[in-house]
Amino acid sequence: MGQSTGRTERAAAVRHPLDPLVAEEFRRAANTLREDRGFDERWRFAAIELKEPPKEVLASGRKVPREALLICWNRDDGQAYKAVVSLDEDRIVSWEHRPGEQPNVTVDEYHECDDALRRDPKVVEALASRGVTDMDKVLFDVWAYGGSLIADKYRGRRIGWTDIWYRDHEDSNPYANPVNGLKLIVDLNRAKLLEIEDNFSVEKPKIMGEYAPKHVPGLRERNDLKPLEITQPEGASFVLSGNELEWQKWSMRVGFNYREGLVLHTVGYDEGGKTRPVAHRMSFSEMVVPYRDPSPEHFRRTAFDVGEWGLGFMTTSLELGCDCLGEISYLDAVLHDSTGEPYTIKNAICIHEEDDAVLWKHVDEVDGAEVRRSRRLVLSFHATVANYEYLIYWRFYQDGNIECEVRATGIMVTSHFPEGEQPPYGSLVDDRTYAPFHQHFIVARLDLDVDGEANTVVMSETEASPVGPKNPYGLALVQRNLPLRTEEEGKQDYDWNTQRSWKVVNDNARNGLGTSTAYKLVPTGCLPAMFDPSSPVLERAGVIGHTMWVTPYHEDERWPCGEFVNQSEVDTGLPVWTRQNRSIENSDVVLWYVFGIHHITRPEEWPVMAVDTVSFWLKPVGFFDRNPALDVPSTANEHCHSPGGGAP
Ligand code: CO
Repeated sequence: MGQSTGRTERAAAVRHPLDPLVAEEFRRAANTLREDRGFDERWRFAAIELKEPPKEVLASGRKVPREALLICWNRDDGQAYKAVVSLDEDRIVSWEHRPGEQPNVTVDEYHECDDALRRDPKVVEALASRGVTDMDKVLFDVWAYGGSLIADKYRGRRIGWTDIWYRDHEDSNPYANPVNGLKLIVDLNRAKLLEIEDNFSVEKPKIMGEYAPKHVPGLRERNDLKPLEITQPEGASFVLSGNELEWQKWSMRVGFNYREGLVLHTVGYDEGGKTRPVAHRMSFSEMVVPYRDPSPEHFRRTAFDVGEWGLGFMTTSLELGCDCLGEISYLDAVLHDSTGEPYTIKNAICIHEEDDAVLWKHVDEVDGAEVRRSRRLVLSFHATVANYEYLIYWRFYQDGNIECEVRATGIMVTSHFPEGEQPPYGSLVDDRTYAPFHQHFIVARLDLDVDGEANTVVMSETEASPVGPKNPYGLALVQRNLPLRTEEEGKQDYDWNTQRSWKVVNDNARNGLGTSTAYKLVPTGCLPAMFDPSSPVLERAGVIGHTMWVTPYHEDERWPCGEFVNQSEVDTGLPVWTRQNRSIENSDVVLWYVFGIHHITRPEEWPVMAVDTVSFWLKPVGFFDRNPALDVPSTANEHCHSPGGGAP
């Protein structure tokens, strides 16, 4: 990762222990394994990333060894291994056999399957029987799956299933045209068809699933939009040096890896020249997308976009003026293919400032108006996962707020159905075409360190007191604060009736009012799982059974549904760790917040959906003694503040 090419050498000299691996380090890590273990071309690398130093090592100030974490497997016998390689000494530090586990699916396998399937005579024949003969216009989308949905005869093999789509024109939208009822089961290690499932065939309805203007019949684009330009003649107000970012009293380090994509490290807020820690590390550690349609067409469709494919691997390059507007700084990301060869995603992360309307305002009868405009710092990246896109934004505000927003867009999965029927598990979006209901559960891993590591999570909710002598009008509202002391107590569900939220409190730090400093997680955008406890989805993704989980920090506890999610049967992450019922009181807590989209599909989301937006907030509660944004200056416009006013 680097701000521009050609700076790698210089950056290497001053590399911070949390900076992602550079291209040369990917190569060296892969080479070390290849040479030491005698890898041939049947060995593949599913994952290579920086092995981040544990917090205690980072805090000690000792020299931190530079290490890479690798997941690889042998395509001949299907065995998976996890390794740590020292990049300082080019040697293997650890080598661990992981029998029965399947590493994440790689982009290379996706392409190899697509290549092999379009040349397979049985597939060609099955498609021809449905009138699809131009194989160049066909797309095979490989999906991973797991649990009891995998047939016994395929257990232990590295397999996937595919949707089949086709384009009306060579450059038109494949997701406009599903090939219904035809599913392929593939052996990924051999890139070979195992089985064709031919469930049904529906006569294709007359639909319009194109979104690119050149393919939309009769589309006339609006012509009444005037230019809107954002200029910052003196440049942006943030300072980016290497991966370190500073803006309006905020400071942080920007990281990136194949699985989580963007990672924010060591987030702090400056007060009186001293950086007060807020979060040690924040990222998305899983995304679970079950389709709630039991039909043969969709019953396998539960995506784990982080664990199966990797948000980093799915990250796409951003374009100035389209994805990000204004005075932009981009960071490139470096990842690797399945042979271990590095490649660069140009402009993977966008960093910019945005005007955010009014921050605070009051109009005084005598003194006139005082208005301050809000500015926010935005770090974003976009991931395209086959038909869908996730746009992820972390926003930092001048008043100490942090907002994490996700926008889902792209193209919904659709199916056709026969004349005279109606789809029970989806919405009609076009002639005899429906988009199945589904849910997007995102797990944010929030290693908050509010004024230091020793924090307690407090469940905070509001209760109306009963009418009585002291409360004759029933007005009294009281706040109940319940410290969560164990991992069992840390399993929390949202309660709309009490407006429940969770505060991360530091009882060892006091504000000027004498109370503990804290940040509150405002639980917007959360949704219940709505699964029978016996459901295979819940068995694989126990995490979605609660809105929030709290664990004590452990460097190996990163993946809430387990490290190896591909083809998993049970969740070996949070449900297993929290069985220890460890203490989470006055300790280094990690919050796992589950939020997302309950996607009841709409006609307006076809053929391409405008963004569906969800977010959650982290807000200071007694972290400051008063509004920390009193010192934000008014804008140059003289109408924005009273005459004679101004910054104190
Ligand atoms: Co959706």
